[in-house]
Amino acid sequence: MDQLPPWVTSVTDTNGRPDGSMLPAPPSEPEDPRRLLVPPATAELFQEIVRLGPRERDGLWLPARLVNYVREISRRRRFLRQYSWSVPTPAAIAKIAAFVEDRRLLEVGAGSGLWAKLLSEVGVTVTATDDGSWSAGTEGVKKSLPSGFSVDRGRFYPVQQVDGAGAVRRHADHEALLLCWPPYERPLAIEALSAFRGDELVYIGDWKCTADDFFRVELATAWQLVETVSLPTWPGINDTVYLYRRRLWNESIARRPNPHLTPLQ
Ligand SMILES: C[S@@+](CC[C@H](N)C(=O)[O-])C[C@H]1O[C@@H](n2cnc3c(N)ncnc32)[C@H](O)[C@@H]1O
Repeated sequence: MDQLPPWVTSVTDTNGRPDGSMLPAPPSEPEDPRRLLVPPATAELFQEIVRLGPRERDGLWLPARLVNYVREISRRRRFLRQYSWSVPTPAAIAKIAAFVEDRRLLEVGAGSGLWAKLLSEVGVTVTATDDGSWSAGTEGVKKSLPSGFSVDRGRFYPVQQVDGAGAVRRHADHEALLLCWPPYERPLAIEALSAFRGDELVYIGDWKCTADDFFRVELATAWQLVETVSLPTWPGINDTVYLYRRRLWNESIARRPNPHLTPLQ
């Protein structure tokens, strides 16, 4: 018999004969958690995101930094439209997946569906929705978009066309809610959160540019920040993943007038 591999001390098959064909399977290579997490096609997508996403330029002297800042504006604009307003990383995806566990995750204002796709690749059950108001069809439509920005809706993942609060009501069985860069000039975030009855919220963005004060007050009142994950960000932006768990829930809160939804008398 050929020399035994080092991890085998003795081999005896059921007939009591040493037999190479009966060798136990070699121990598997220690699993690389990132390989488990990211299938090959997704790994390529992450490489693309790194290539087209924000560039590290911290060490530059001031004039060069200013030039870089200006260059990054057009790169960012393209990235926002084609990928996402926040730059996902494998670590952020893993953290969100671990937080959400086996809950169904509803994303509202999902745009291209990039985050939904990456989360679904690691086993999260995701439903992505967006009202399509920022989706560019023709150049004319693009110019009339409320923000002046456009997104390629559903580029990475099926995105149902429905407004935020309607999506929450339609998918009332989803226990976790995802909001990535909800606009600050429209009430998407507070409307979706007010209608939501689940217990986990994933909010991604920069506080100074997303959602509104009603949303912030609601979070401060009824939600507990559990963890944050920092993300690569564009110059002047501070993008972070915030993981929240519902802190209090009772009928008096459910009935509390929401100035955003109930006109004040
Ligand atoms: C800043 S973009 C962010 C898109 C996506 N989350 C991302 O990170 O790329 C805001 C998105 O919210 C959507 N949106 C705006 N108002 C909405 C509403 N009332 N209901 C649902 N989606 C809305 C827009 O169509 C747009 O796709």
